[in-house]
Amino acid sequence: MKKLLLANFKSNKSISEANVWMDTFLKKIAGTNLDLVEIAVAPSFLSLEEYSVKIADRNAPVSLTMQNISAYPAGSYTGAVSVQNVQGLQIKYAIVGHSERRRYFGETSDHVVKKIEQAIAGEMTPIVCFDTDYLEEQIKKIPTEYLEKCIFAYEPLAAIGSGNNASVDEVKAVRESVAKHSPDSLFLYGGSVTDKNVSEYLIVADGVLVGSFSLDATGYANLVATATGIVYQTQ
Ligand code: PGA
Repeated sequence: MKKLLLANFKSNKSISEANVWMDTFLKKIAGTNLDLVEIAVAPSFLSLEEYSVKIADRNAPVSLTMQNISAYPAGSYTGAVSVQNVQGLQIKYAIVGHSERRRYFGETSDHVVKKIEQAIAGEMTPIVCFDTDYLEEQIKKIPTEYLEKCIFAYEPLAAIGSGNNASVDEVKAVRESVAKHSPDSLFLYGGSVTDKNVSEYLIVADGVLVGSFSLDATGYANLVATATGIVYQTQ
Protein backbone atom coordinates (compact mmCIF):
# COMPACT_ATOMS: atom_id res chain seq x y z
CA MET A 1 0.00 0.00 0.00
CA LYS A 2 1.29 3.46 -0.85
CA LYS A 3 2.29 5.82 1.96
CA LEU A 4 0.40 9.10 1.82
CA LEU A 5 2.34 12.37 2.07
CA LEU A 6 -0.12 15.23 2.47
CA ALA A 7 0.98 18.87 2.27
CA ASN A 8 -1.40 21.28 3.98
CA PHE A 9 -0.76 24.93 3.12
CA LYS A 10 -3.42 26.15 5.59
CA SER A 11 -4.16 29.86 4.92
CA ASN A 12 -0.75 30.51 3.37
CA LYS A 13 0.10 31.55 -0.22
CA SER A 14 -1.57 33.72 -2.81
CA ILE A 15 -2.85 32.02 -5.96
CA SER A 16 0.30 32.96 -7.86
CA GLU A 17 2.59 31.79 -5.04
CA ALA A 18 0.74 28.49 -4.95
CA ASN A 19 1.24 28.14 -8.71
CA VAL A 20 4.96 28.79 -8.39
CA TRP A 21 5.10 26.18 -5.63
CA MET A 22 3.47 23.55 -7.82
CA ASP A 23 5.67 24.34 -10.84
CA THR A 24 8.84 24.14 -8.72
CA PHE A 25 7.70 21.02 -6.90
CA LEU A 26 6.80 19.12 -10.07
CA LYS A 27 10.19 19.95 -11.59
CA LYS A 28 11.98 18.73 -8.46
CA ILE A 29 10.13 15.43 -8.26
CA ALA A 30 10.25 14.64 -11.99
CA GLY A 31 11.59 11.14 -12.45
CA THR A 32 11.02 10.11 -8.81
CA ASN A 33 9.62 6.61 -8.54
CA LEU A 34 6.28 7.05 -6.81
CA ASP A 35 5.10 3.45 -6.96
CA LEU A 36 5.04 3.27 -3.17
CA VAL A 37 4.28 6.85 -2.24
CA GLU A 38 1.23 9.03 -2.94
CA ILE A 39 1.60 12.79 -2.87
CA ALA A 40 -1.41 14.90 -1.91
CA VAL A 41 -1.60 18.68 -1.66
CA ALA A 42 -4.20 20.83 0.11
CA PRO A 43 -3.94 24.46 -1.07
CA SER A 44 -6.47 27.17 -0.22
CA PHE A 45 -9.91 26.82 -1.83
CA LEU A 46 -8.93 29.55 -4.29
CA SER A 47 -6.17 27.41 -5.78
CA LEU A 48 -8.18 24.24 -6.19
CA GLU A 49 -9.35 25.00 -9.70
CA GLU A 50 -5.95 26.00 -11.09
CA TYR A 51 -4.33 23.05 -9.38
CA SER A 52 -6.91 20.73 -10.82
CA VAL A 53 -6.18 21.99 -14.34
CA LYS A 54 -2.39 21.83 -13.83
CA ILE A 55 -2.54 18.30 -12.47
CA ALA A 56 -4.72 17.11 -15.36
CA ASP A 57 -2.70 18.92 -18.08
CA ARG A 58 0.61 17.57 -16.85
CA ASN A 59 -0.68 14.24 -15.68
CA ALA A 60 1.00 15.13 -12.38
CA PRO A 61 1.19 12.54 -9.59
CA VAL A 62 -0.60 14.72 -7.07
CA SER A 63 -3.91 14.00 -5.34
CA LEU A 64 -5.86 17.19 -4.85
CA THR A 65 -7.16 17.73 -1.32
CA MET A 66 -9.53 20.19 0.34
CA GLN A 67 -8.51 21.64 3.70
CA ASN A 68 -12.11 21.78 4.84
CA ILE A 69 -15.60 21.27 3.48
CA SER A 70 -19.04 22.57 4.32
CA ALA A 71 -21.02 20.52 6.79
CA TYR A 72 -24.06 21.21 4.59
CA PRO A 73 -25.04 20.43 1.03
CA ALA A 74 -25.48 23.13 -1.64
CA GLY A 75 -27.92 25.81 -0.49
CA SER A 76 -28.23 28.90 1.66
CA TYR A 77 -25.04 28.60 3.70
CA THR A 78 -23.21 31.86 3.04
CA GLY A 79 -19.45 31.59 2.93
CA ALA A 80 -19.33 27.80 3.00
CA VAL A 81 -17.75 25.70 0.25
CA SER A 82 -20.02 22.77 -0.54
CA VAL A 83 -19.40 19.54 -2.36
CA GLN A 84 -21.35 20.96 -5.29
CA ASN A 85 -19.03 24.00 -5.51
CA VAL A 86 -16.04 21.77 -6.19
CA GLN A 87 -17.72 19.24 -8.43
CA GLY A 88 -15.56 18.27 -11.40
CA LEU A 89 -12.27 19.35 -9.81
CA GLN A 90 -11.17 15.76 -9.22
CA ILE A 91 -10.60 16.23 -5.51
CA LYS A 92 -9.66 12.99 -3.81
CA TYR A 93 -9.46 13.90 -0.12
CA ALA A 94 -11.11 16.35 2.28
CA ILE A 95 -9.45 17.18 5.59
CA VAL A 96 -12.11 17.47 8.28
CA GLY A 97 -11.96 18.48 11.92
CA HIS A 98 -8.47 19.95 11.94
CA SER A 99 -7.76 21.25 15.46
CA GLU A 100 -7.40 24.76 14.02
CA ARG A 101 -11.02 24.50 12.85
CA ARG A 102 -12.09 23.48 16.33
CA ARG A 103 -9.98 26.14 18.01
CA TYR A 104 -10.62 29.17 15.84
CA PHE A 105 -13.96 28.37 14.21
CA GLY A 106 -15.81 26.56 16.94
CA GLU A 107 -16.17 23.25 15.15
CA THR A 108 -17.39 20.31 17.19
CA SER A 109 -17.40 16.56 16.74
CA ASP A 110 -21.01 16.85 15.47
CA HIS A 111 -19.93 19.25 12.72
CA VAL A 112 -17.14 16.88 11.81
CA VAL A 113 -19.61 14.00 11.38
CA LYS A 114 -21.67 16.14 8.98
CA LYS A 115 -18.53 17.02 7.05
CA ILE A 116 -17.61 13.36 6.78
CA GLU A 117 -21.07 12.70 5.32
CA GLN A 118 -20.67 15.54 2.83
CA ALA A 119 -17.19 14.43 1.76
CA ILE A 120 -18.40 10.90 1.17
CA ALA A 121 -21.45 12.18 -0.73
CA GLY A 122 -19.00 14.07 -2.96
CA GLU A 123 -16.94 10.91 -3.48
CA MET A 124 -13.99 12.17 -1.49
CA THR A 125 -12.21 10.34 1.30
CA PRO A 126 -12.45 12.25 4.58
CA ILE A 127 -9.21 12.66 6.50
CA VAL A 128 -10.41 13.05 10.07
CA CYS A 129 -7.94 14.88 12.30
CA PHE A 130 -8.01 14.32 16.04
CA ASP A 131 -6.10 14.61 19.29
CA THR A 132 -6.35 11.96 21.98
CA ASP A 133 -8.56 13.94 24.37
CA TYR A 134 -11.52 13.81 21.99
CA LEU A 135 -10.74 10.75 19.89
CA GLU A 136 -13.26 8.52 21.66
CA GLU A 137 -16.01 11.15 21.55
CA GLN A 138 -15.39 11.82 17.86
CA ILE A 139 -15.11 8.26 16.72
CA LYS A 140 -18.24 7.11 18.56
CA LYS A 141 -20.26 9.75 16.73
CA ILE A 142 -19.25 8.53 13.29
CA PRO A 143 -21.83 6.09 11.88
CA THR A 144 -20.32 2.62 11.49
CA GLU A 145 -20.91 2.53 7.75
CA TYR A 146 -18.67 5.60 7.36
CA LEU A 147 -15.92 4.53 9.74
CA GLU A 148 -13.84 2.49 7.37
CA LYS A 149 -14.21 5.09 4.63
CA CYS A 150 -12.35 7.55 6.87
CA ILE A 151 -8.63 8.03 7.18
CA PHE A 152 -7.72 9.05 10.74
CA ALA A 153 -4.93 11.57 11.32
CA TYR A 154 -3.41 11.85 14.78
CA GLU A 155 -2.44 15.48 15.20
CA PRO A 156 -1.45 16.22 18.80
CA LEU A 157 -2.04 19.88 19.54
CA ALA A 158 1.32 20.30 21.22
CA ALA A 159 3.11 19.06 18.12
CA ILE A 160 1.44 21.29 15.53
CA GLY A 161 3.69 24.06 14.31
CA SER A 162 5.87 23.81 17.43
CA GLY A 163 8.85 21.72 16.36
CA ASN A 164 7.92 19.27 19.14
CA ASN A 165 6.99 16.27 17.04
CA ALA A 166 5.44 13.35 18.91
CA SER A 167 7.49 10.26 19.68
CA VAL A 168 7.12 7.25 17.45
CA ASP A 169 6.03 5.12 20.44
CA GLU A 170 3.23 7.57 21.17
CA VAL A 171 2.08 7.49 17.54
CA LYS A 172 2.13 3.69 17.60
CA ALA A 173 0.03 3.58 20.77
CA VAL A 174 -2.54 6.00 19.36
CA ARG A 175 -2.75 3.98 16.18
CA GLU A 176 -3.71 0.99 18.31
CA SER A 177 -6.50 2.96 20.01
CA VAL A 178 -7.94 3.95 16.63
CA ALA A 179 -7.67 0.37 15.39
CA LYS A 180 -9.84 -0.80 18.29
CA HIS A 181 -12.71 1.21 16.83
CA SER A 182 -11.89 1.03 13.14
CA PRO A 183 -9.37 -1.69 12.35
CA ASP A 184 -9.39 -1.14 8.59
CA SER A 185 -8.96 2.63 8.51
CA LEU A 186 -5.71 4.11 7.34
CA PHE A 187 -3.83 6.10 9.96
CA LEU A 188 -1.68 9.22 9.49
CA TYR A 189 0.48 11.32 11.79
CA GLY A 190 0.80 15.11 11.63
CA GLY A 191 2.68 17.62 13.77
CA SER A 192 6.09 19.17 12.98
CA VAL A 193 6.94 16.56 10.36
CA THR A 194 10.06 17.45 8.33
CA ASP A 195 12.44 15.71 5.94
CA LYS A 196 14.52 14.82 9.00
CA ASN A 197 11.88 12.90 10.94
CA VAL A 198 9.44 11.69 8.26
CA SER A 199 11.12 8.28 7.94
CA GLU A 200 10.32 7.27 11.51
CA TYR A 201 6.62 7.93 11.08
CA LEU A 202 6.30 6.03 7.83
CA ILE A 203 7.25 2.89 9.71
CA VAL A 204 4.35 3.20 12.18
CA ALA A 205 1.77 5.11 10.12
CA ASP A 206 0.26 4.96 6.62
CA GLY A 207 1.43 8.49 5.94
CA VAL A 208 1.95 11.98 7.26
CA LEU A 209 0.34 15.41 7.20
CA VAL A 210 2.85 18.18 6.74
CA GLY A 211 2.03 21.83 7.48
CA SER A 212 4.86 24.36 7.88
CA PHE A 213 7.50 22.19 6.25
CA SER A 214 5.43 21.81 3.08
CA LEU A 215 5.39 25.54 2.35
CA ASP A 216 8.76 25.48 0.63
CA ALA A 217 8.53 23.44 -2.59
CA THR A 218 12.19 22.41 -2.54
CA GLY A 219 12.03 21.34 1.10
CA TYR A 220 8.90 19.35 0.43
CA ALA A 221 10.47 17.69 -2.61
CA ASN A 222 13.35 16.66 -0.31
CA LEU A 223 10.84 15.19 2.12
CA VAL A 224 9.27 13.22 -0.73
CA ALA A 225 12.71 11.97 -1.80
CA THR A 226 13.54 10.88 1.77
CA ALA A 227 10.16 9.20 2.17
CA THR A 228 10.49 7.40 -1.15
CA GLY A 229 13.90 6.08 -0.13
CA ILE A 230 12.78 4.80 3.24
CA VAL A 231 9.66 3.14 1.89
CA TYR A 232 11.72 1.21 -0.64
CA GLN A 233 14.23 0.19 2.01
CA THR A 234 11.52 -1.18 4.28
CA GLN A 235 9.70 -3.13 1.56
P1 PGA B 1 2.81 21.46 11.13
O1 PGA B 1 1.24 21.31 10.90
O2 PGA B 1 3.49 20.50 10.18
O3 PGA B 1 3.11 22.88 10.83
O4 PGA B 1 3.09 21.07 12.54
C1 PGA B 1 0.69 20.03 10.78
C2 PGA B 1 -0.79 20.09 10.63
O5 PGA B 1 -1.44 20.95 11.22
O6 PGA B 1 -1.33 19.27 9.89
